[in-house]
Amino acid sequence: MNNQMIQKIAIFASGSGSNAENITRYFNNSDRVFISLIVCDNPKAFVLERAKKLNIPTAVIKPQQLKEEGYMQSILNEYKIDFIVLAGFLKLIPTHLIKAYPDKIINIHPALLPKYGGKGMYGHHVHEAVVKAQEKETGITVHFVNEHYDEGQIIFQAKCQVDAKDTPDDVADKIHKLEMEHFPKVIERLI
Ligand code: GRF
Repeated sequence: MNNQMIQKIAIFASGSGSNAENITRYFNNSDRVFISLIVCDNPKAFVLERAKKLNIPTAVIKPQQLKEEGYMQSILNEYKIDFIVLAGFLKLIPTHLIKAYPDKIINIHPALLPKYGGKGMYGHHVHEAVVKAQEKETGITVHFVNEHYDEGQIIFQAKCQVDAKDTPDDVADKIHKLEMEHFPKVIERLI
């Protein structure tokens, strides 16, 4: 397999990294996709522990450095990144990255966009809002990333039921299962 064919992915994550780990394990023996780098904006994030265990190189960046085109390009070029996957990355992606990776940056959101999206709607805040609104269903959305939080073209959605007795934690568990099941496959189909 000539290695030009291998798509090199950088995963951007800010928190626990369960999606980053799941994606990395899924593509472990792939001859078409290689998880080359994990970029993280929080030096204390558990995703860095996971990356160490998985032997994935990491780049810990300061919020200001994300906005510096030269700095980010030097990191992404060093690892010859073809595609960027946001998995629990909380910062807005700067325009310079959107331009450098047109239709090559995707994000997973733990709700059925366009509902429950936008600035501040992440993690538990989303599940609390879904339960508070007494929604009958929720789910995950994978979408292309543009200059606005959670507004890019939708690629994939999967749904789950919300029962009247469900707490935000119950919803979080159902969402987590959908993410583990679907996200790697969505990436594989896309690449
Ligand atoms: C996931 O719920 C994802 O949908 C959202 O952030 C969370 C990341 O979780 N974007 P983890 O860090 O991958 O465990």
